[in-house]
Amino acid sequence: MQAQNTDTQTQEMELTLVLIKPDAMKLSLTGYILSQLSEFHTALRFAGAKIVHVSRRLAEEHYAEHRGKAFYPALINYIMGKSHYPDQPQRRRVIALVYSGPNAVSTVRRIAGPTNPHHARETAPGTIRALGTVVLLKDAQGQIIGERLDNLIHASATPEEAEREIKLWFCPTDIMPFMRIYPTDYSQEHYYLSGGQLTTTWTPGSRCAIAAGELAWKSDLETLHLWRSGKPTSISLDAVIAKYLINTEQIPAE
Ligand code: GTP
Ligand code: MG
Repeated sequence: MQAQNTDTQTQEMELTLVLIKPDAMKLSLTGYILSQLSEFHTALRFAGAKIVHVSRRLAEEHYAEHRGKAFYPALINYIMGKSHYPDQPQRRRVIALVYSGPNAVSTVRRIAGPTNPHHARETAPGTIRALGTVVLLKDAQGQIIGERLDNLIHASATPEEAEREIKLWFCPTDIMPFMRIYPTDYSQEHYYLSGGQLTTTWTPGSRCAIAAGELAWKSDLETLHLWRSGKPTSISLDAVIAKYLINTEQIPAE
């Protein structure tokens, strides 16, 4: 097992997840957002980065806390890129970034601004979300049935949320070793994915998600261990496997 960091080191090397959402990609605001978050402005450093075609499984796990709310279906379509690229699935993507440094979570939240772009424009001009849009959602008859907050970026709200989200989007080896602050361990088992489902036995067409001897999040290995013993898990299995399925589909499923 890897040596763990001390609490002080962990605070100095706090991690946070940023997603540059599909509306920011469409508006070509990536460069602006990256410069707002640059080390020069924030004293934060890149710890991980990837371009992700967001699956429904990943979207639903990321926004699990909003499941059941009226705006949830529109939120899932938004983060999957379906709202901004309805006819161009090949352009549906987000940039997922992990930043590391002192007070990373609160620093990025301050620069991101309030959740609602209208509120951001009124109360926090100059923040990234002040450049966002509120889109009215209408039914087939043209009646307004809700709104979608196109707020350009996601930023973790607390260090605990950052840990859950970073482990959802990134494998340990996606994050450079000096900046990994969550416990990891080497898997003692092989885990395979077959048709999007987890198995412990290889069958034709399945592929390896985690090999025995491979580095994984310790909390994921604990979840997998419980799953293998038929016990209930506090972390969903979808949250464990979503990151191993990122960008694996040859043709987008939907
Ligand atoms: P994220 O960084 O995206 O997580 O936003 P947040 O932490 O500022 O807000 P929260 O986690 O509560 O909500 C996640 C996303 O759901 C927001 O970015 C919005 O797009 C959407 N959302 C949250 N609250 C509302 C709401 O009251 N109405 C609508 N229409 N959308 C909402
Ligand atoms: Mg949030």
